[in-house]
Amino acid sequence: MAKIAIIGGGGFAKEVIEVAKMQGHDIVGIFALENSLKEYPYLGYLEEAVTKQDEYDYLHIAIGAVNAKGMQNRKKILEFIKENNLPLISLISPKADIGEGVKIGDGVYIGHRVIVSCDSVISDGVLINQGAVIGHDCKIAENVSIAPLVFLGGNVAVEKDVMIGVRATIRQGVRIGHNSIVGMGSIVIKNILPNSTTLQMPSKIYRQ
Ligand SMILES: CC(C)(COP(=O)(O)OP(=O)(O)OC[C@H]1O[C@@H](n2cnc3c(N)ncnc32)[C@H](O)[C@@H]1OP(=O)(O)O)[C@@H](O)C(=O)NCCC(=O)NCCS
Repeated sequence: MAKIAIIGGGGFAKEVIEVAKMQGHDIVGIFALENSLKEYPYLGYLEEAVTKQDEYDYLHIAIGAVNAKGMQNRKKILEFIKENNLPLISLISPKADIGEGVKIGDGVYIGHRVIVSCDSVISDGVLINQGAVIGHDCKIAENVSIAPLVFLGGNVAVEKDVMIGVRATIRQGVRIGHNSIVGMGSIVIKNILPNSTTLQMPSKIYRQ
């Protein structure tokens, strides 16, 4: 059991805290611009994590990303933590299913009902949200954010700082270039170049 300070005080932090508690950890407080989770002590801005290291054993980033701006924010936070050698812990739901030979870095979050299949590599700061399926031998680079119910076939490579939106489906063997956004519901069948955004056909109003 460890003393964990959470970075982020919004809705996603509630999900992260739930997983941390299921793993038997103690939540000692929140670093954030503002804290909406009043039941936990507010520890100040993230910068204060450097001087308040005696108050926690580990940090965990609990700020989700729904677009490019959010991804840049997560990237900056992860860089700050690494530059200052602050300790990061991975939080993995006991309800997730992690296959044989899977390697998981530091500061990774894996939510309920996620499946990560055999021999996949999940790098530092990756977020895999509820119900996502990661096939065998996938390589997920640093600070990738995977939304709920995403499906990655086997041998998919996702480069750094990519966000994959809800229910996107990625064909086996495909590579997603760094800094890309895969929009909600996209079906990706070919490699995606870096810095791209993909969108699937949106629904349209048929009758009103
Ligand atoms: C791809 C995404 C980041 C684009 O967001 P954005 O840059 O704010 O774009 P906008 O909402 O301004 O939309 C721009 C255009 O793309 C269309 N569009 C946006 N997202 C789309 C999607 N996923 N599929 C199809 N079309 C989409 C919009 O209708 C709009 O079209 P228009 O200009 O013809 O009206 C966003 O839609 C998305 O998919 N985010 C992921 C959300 C998610 O997974 N959340 C879960 C968090 S747990």
